[in-house]
Formats: sequence, structure tokens, C-alpha cells
Amino acid sequence: MSMAAMLSARRLIAYYGQAQILSDVSLDVASGEVALLLGRNGAGKSTTLKTLIGLVPMAGGEVVFRGERIDGLRPYQIAQRGLGYVPEDRRIFTDLTVSENLEVGRQPARKGLPAWTVKQLYKLFPNLAEMSARPASQMSGGEQQMLTIARTLMGNPACVLLDEPSEGLAPVIVDAMVAAIKEMKSQGLAVLLSEQNLHFAEDVADRAYIIEKGSIRFCGGVSELRDNDSVRSACLAL
Ligand SMILES: Nc1ncnc2c1ncn2[C@@H]1O[C@H](COP(=O)(O)OP(=O)(O)OP(=O)(O)O)[C@@H](O)[C@H]1O
Ligand SMILES: [Mg+2]
Repeated sequence: MSMAAMLSARRLIAYYGQAQILSDVSLDVASGEVALLLGRNGAGKSTTLKTLIGLVPMAGGEVVFRGERIDGLRPYQIAQRGLGYVPEDRRIFTDLTVSENLEVGRQPARKGLPAWTVKQLYKLFPNLAEMSARPASQMSGGEQQMLTIARTLMGNPACVLLDEPSEGLAPVIVDAMVAAIKEMKSQGLAVLLSEQNLHFAEDVADRAYIIEKGSIRFCGGVSELRDNDSVRSACLAL
């Protein structure tokens, strides 16, 4: 197990009912690093993130986060330790305004970790600042995705799991997302980014894992991956 990793997963196994979905998932994410989890539809990306955050029970393996075992803990306990999660489906409170949604996410600052202020988040997501008093129901899908990320950052996490944040977003929103992920990285956060789209992700990522049928098939630098036609064509829809 890498000592430098903030989040380390070893040989994760997970089932939905009788169906084994994850059979061999090991990955590491370090502080200030963006690790990609790439894979086709149904490969097990979302299940991996849900297992890490405790939403899907682990049938085997172990997860170490900030030096502590977190496997077996409840999702709220894992979140309290500083693991943030942005699911595929945007979970905002549509009756609340943008600024109220941010307040809902507020958690105490953690020792040695960046503490985000609303002001900083509005700087990071300028379009949210312009609509701070607007009910979230009156935002586009991309804006809601930004708000979900900003609300997660209000919890002052050490590591953020982002599940396909660019999916279905307009290019201009994707650019803003890339800028936000780069800023998280420069603040020393560890980011695990699930994606199908290598073109979006290669701009921000340091390392990549390719998952296929619930197993990690490749781990390496993004440039190595770009040059490896056989791995790409076997595992990714490009
Ligand atoms: N709640 C569930 N119950 C049973 N099977 C599920 C459930 N959620 C996902 N699966 C199955 O588990 C496998 C992995 O799904 P998962 O959502 O992790 O894939 P993914 O890589 O995130 O795909 P996508 O790119 O479409 O989001 C798929 O075969 C899927 O059909
Ligand atoms: Mg998914």
C-alpha cells in the first residue's frame, strides 16, 4: 500500500444481489492528484465510487483513507472523515436557492485541509455567483452539476469522488468544470474522476485506471494511455 496515497483501495469486491459487479479494484489517489477511472458503460465506475463511500457494501477488500481503514463504516461516517462524493445524478435541493444549497453542505474545517468559503466558491464558479438567490429548480443541468460540486466542497473534503461530471454538459460548462478541478488539485485535494470521455479528462488527470467488467485492467500515466491503442480500443468507447 502506497504511504503517500490519501485514498487507497485494495482488491475491492462488491455485489448487487447475486451479481458480482466488482471483482478486483485497486487504486490510489494522492493529495494534489487527479486520478481517472475510465471505462465503458456498465464497467463498474459508479459502483466503485459507491463502494468507496459506503453506499454499496464491500464483500471483500480494504479501503484506507487518510491513514485509517474506512471500509465497513456508514456513508455519513466516511463523509465526516472528509471523503466527498458527487453522484452521477445531481442531488440538489430544488426548493432552495443556490446560496441555501451551499449552506446545506457546510461542515467544519478539518485540520490541515483547505477550508472553502462561499466567496471562494463563487470565484471558482462565477455563474453560480450571478444566480445565488435563484431557486435551484430554475438552473440548467450543467449549473446544477456545478452547484453539486460547490456544495460538496463546502464540506471541506480531503478527497472528492466525481462521477462523470462532464456527462451531457455543454462545452463551455465543461471548460468551467476543468478549471474547477484544476483549482481543487492546486488546493491539495485528491480527486478521483470517473469518466468515459478521455478527451475531457486527459487535460486534468495525472494518472488513469481503466476498469473493465469490474476489474482494473490498466494503470498508468495519461500519456502512456493515449499511446496504448490496444488498451484503449479494448476498454474504452472512443
Ligand atoms: N442497483 C443495481 N442493481 C443491480 N445491478 C446494478 C445496479 N447498479 C448497477 N448495476 C449493474 O452493475 C454494473 C456496473 O454498473 P455501474 O453503474 O457501476 O457502471 P458504470 O461504469 O458507472 O456505467 P455508466 O458509464 O453507464 O455510468 C452494470 O452491469 C449495471 O447494470
Ligand atoms: Mg456510472
